Amino acid sequence: MRETVHTQPEREPLDCRDVAAQYRDAMARLATGVVVVTCWIDGKPWGTTVSACCSVSLDPPLILASLRENTASVQAIRRSGTFGISILGQRTVDVARFASRPGQAKFIHEYCDVVPDTVTPAIRDSVAHACCEVDQQVRAGDHVLFVGRVREVFLHTNDRPLVYHSRDFCGIGQGAPSDS
Ligand SMILES: Cc1cc2nc3c(=O)[nH]c(=O)nc-3n(C[C@H](O)[C@H](O)[C@H](O)COP(=O)(O)O)c2cc1C
Repeated sequence: MRETVHTQPEREPLDCRDVAAQYRDAMARLATGVVVVTCWIDGKPWGTTVSACCSVSLDPPLILASLRENTASVQAIRRSGTFGISILGQRTVDVARFASRPGQAKFIHEYCDVVPDTVTPAIRDSVAHACCEVDQQVRAGDHVLFVGRVREVFLHTNDRPLVYHSRDFCGIGQGAPSDS
């Protein structure tokens, strides 16, 4: 049998600036879901759009969200010890844009049904919402990884998921691509 050998084309080593720029470009090619991480600031609902969110464990139920450290959201979550994760569908692209504006207040009254006594604000018409208690926090570079213990889950709509890819919001089609 003939052996196939894959070789890397010869290249100059990358300098650090190239790595940072190419890393950003590479990650822009990774399609992700979109969530809004919610919390309370001065008794008012606040949210930040996040793609770095994933399930960590089912038993116990743990979820992870990565947030840039020097932000109002991180301070508020550290103070309260709680945060919410609203998983967005295609109908809720407006809040995804609103809650991702850098350097601006991200009070999300307009996008929430605030139910008194709920632990965390939930985005109206999101696909699902989880209320979490901070279980662990790990500093990683300029971000903090919050691992949340999921205390309550609400299934809201069956909308198709909102997706972020190539620095833009998009949706996904009817079904998985076929093999044929
Ligand atoms: C689709 C999308 C995904 C994002 N994902 C993250 C993320 O995972 N973590 C994060 O800290 N910021 C993320 N951001 C940026 C935040 O939404 C927000 O703009 C940023 O934290 C602004 O913080 P500031 O208002 O304190 O400057 C994302 C933005 C967009 C549009």
